[in-house]
Amino acid sequence: MEQQLDQTETIQPPTDAVMARAVALLRAGEPVGLPTETVYGLAADACNDKAVARIFEIKGRPHFNPLIAHCADIETVRSLVDLPALAVALAEAFWPGPLTLVLKRRADCPVSLLASAGLETLAVRVPAHPVAHALLKAFGGALAAPSANPSGRISPTTARDVTDALSLDLVIDGGPCTVGLESTILSVDGDKAILLRAGGVPLEDIEDVLGSKIGRAEDTDPITAPGQLRSHYAPEATLRLNALDKRPGEVLLGFGAPCDGETPELNLSEQASLQEAAANLFRMLRNLDDTGAKRIAVAPVPEIGLGRAINDRLRRAAAPRP
Ligand code: TXA
Ligand code: MG
Repeated sequence: MEQQLDQTETIQPPTDAVMARAVALLRAGEPVGLPTETVYGLAADACNDKAVARIFEIKGRPHFNPLIAHCADIETVRSLVDLPALAVALAEAFWPGPLTLVLKRRADCPVSLLASAGLETLAVRVPAHPVAHALLKAFGGALAAPSANPSGRISPTTARDVTDALSLDLVIDGGPCTVGLESTILSVDGDKAILLRAGGVPLEDIEDVLGSKIGRAEDTDPITAPGQLRSHYAPEATLRLNALDKRPGEVLLGFGAPCDGETPELNLSEQASLQEAAANLFRMLRNLDDTGAKRIAVAPVPEIGLGRAINDRLRRAAAPRP
């Protein structure tokens, strides 16, 4: 029998029939849950204002927070934004992969201005996940895709995380995300690059390509980092960071060898691997949150490599809620 498509289930494997249905939904302006190597995205046609507006509506996201345009290749990126030599060098080093570049929109950029939230720049990324790549190729254009979580909540790293929080027609199942943290975001203006968000590509690797140290945008700078809300990625429980012990009423999220006598409920990485910790971070926060504990104590994570991105997410999750 021909592949029968069961449309009653939201989560579907990436068969040819499912990919074709995803393209049809996207062309009709509907959003689709999409696996990427970083986190699952809520993808919609980036050039369709109404489709982009649907994303904001579904996420309950403040409208000033712009979106990333995902492309199959650098040629597509080139049709959207100006690519200075520095951006090309970074693209060659890290694409496809977990790096997002914020660049000046071309005058003829077809992407919805709503996706740029009125800025003259557009965030672009070429994801490495084979399913994301295949869908982008089949769709033949840019897909705007924020992380597929309600605004302010933990990013999804499995298809089930997406359907637990959002109601969608289709989420393509590409397995658990291998990176587990959002992309690193750099703003590139001429020969100047600034870090807007630590993420899946470690800062040190970027500095190796640049041959110099990289500047950071202040969290509070409303123009360069409009979406970097201080409280973000928040679980229901409150967080206590750099915890060396477990206090009454707390559950402990460990990293590396447990501190004396304390057995963590979960451990980001017993071997103290930052890569493993990044991949586990959001899932473990979710699992500890689901225990109903009021407070999650988190062991110290070193501020190097992917540890910067992990600590950035933890600080936001721990920040006072608006
Ligand atoms: O790994 C990722 O980047 C995931 C996957 C799905 O690709 N996407 C993701 O998107 O994390 P989102 O929307 O959750 O986060 C994108 C961040 C936001 O904080 C937003 O403010 C920032 O990128 N951003 C987007 N466009 C920008 C722009 N033109 N200028 C400055 N920041 C921008
Ligand atoms: Mg997000």
